[in-house]
Amino acid sequence: MEKLRTAVIGVGTFGENHARAYAEYGRSELVWVCDLNEERGRKVASRYGARYTPDYEEVARDPSVQAVSVATPDFAHTEPVLRMIEAGKHVLVEKPLATSVEEARKMVEAAKDAGVVLMVDFHNRWNPPFLRAKREVLEGKIGEPLVGFARLSDTIYVPTEMLSWADKSGPQWFLMSHTADLMCWLVGKQPRKVYAVGEKKVLKDMGIDTYDFVQAVLRFEGGTSVTLESCWVLPNSIPRLIDFQVYLAGTKGRISVEVGFQGIEVAAEELSHPFVLGQEDAYGRTVGFVQEPIYHFVDCVLDDRPPQCPGEDGLRTTALIEAALRSIGEGRPVDIEL
Ligand SMILES: NC(=O)c1ccc[n+]([C@@H]2O[C@H](COP(=O)([O-])OP(=O)(O)OC[C@H]3O[C@@H](n4cnc5c(N)ncnc54)[C@H](O)[C@@H]3O)[C@@H](O)[C@H]2O)c1
Repeated sequence: MEKLRTAVIGVGTFGENHARAYAEYGRSELVWVCDLNEERGRKVASRYGARYTPDYEEVARDPSVQAVSVATPDFAHTEPVLRMIEAGKHVLVEKPLATSVEEARKMVEAAKDAGVVLMVDFHNRWNPPFLRAKREVLEGKIGEPLVGFARLSDTIYVPTEMLSWADKSGPQWFLMSHTADLMCWLVGKQPRKVYAVGEKKVLKDMGIDTYDFVQAVLRFEGGTSVTLESCWVLPNSIPRLIDFQVYLAGTKGRISVEVGFQGIEVAAEELSHPFVLGQEDAYGRTVGFVQEPIYHFVDCVLDDRPPQCPGEDGLRTTALIEAALRSIGEGRPVDIEL
């Protein structure tokens, strides 16, 4: 059976998941691991049987590599993605596609011109409660979506200890990119206007110049309204890293999802709510919604099918968040230019 030859650029906290998925999936093999951090890169490469390079040029120049994941920090996706597309590779990029519309558009256009797949890893579209929610909406169970709410927040550990580049991102890019995509996908319409507010206080006082929270009201075509809320300063005493709730009411019903608590609580030395739906070891093979979109990307490339989350959806999310930031600056609702 033909196996897709893959590479991963950026194997920090999240990129390692891509390396593991390519190495474990029966239809792909991991050829290269690229990371500026040599110690980290070599460790991940040896763990999954791949070669290591600190320079993504080496990946671009290897004609045997067909597909590449880019999981560098939020603000550092564009250059490696454009280089891989130029070299004719299919690309799976972590969310958000980019932190500016200009860069996101460049990537979408370059992929179109080169005829390669560009997919954004909006993995919540594989998260079982949301898969079910989407089916309920499509089957008309709640009627026409009217009003919704999505909160995805992190404990303050994430911007202060987990990420070294929090000041170059923010809850709007790191977190709200997930819920913006999710609600556009669930509602099934295009967002037209956004009014957003945000505050910089707690993190700024700690020397990290980014928003503590952003709250945004989206108006969709046809009148549906959705509020998105992402906060980056929740207390570390919460027994999980994330707080994640979604609500969507329609003309005939409503859906409510609580995914922060994934059905298991462990009370040991500390109280914890492990992240089991995302990924869990099932007898030597990882299962979960973190892995599934990566397998989907491999399938789409090998079977010549369009992906679930094409670059255009990443561009829409970036446009929405860029407009939200403009709205915060101007203190009024603004149009989302798509
Ligand atoms: N899908 C999700 O839910 C999810 C979760 C966490 C992170 N992410 C996304 O994944 C991306 C990475 O986040 P992270 O938390 O793993 O960050 P991280 O800082 O842990 O890892 C980033 C890695 O990229 C490497 N890197 C940076 N520039 C590079 C370059 N030019 N060439 C090679 N390597 C380079 C760094 O050395 C680092 O090891 C971000 O876009 C983030 O939003 C997604």
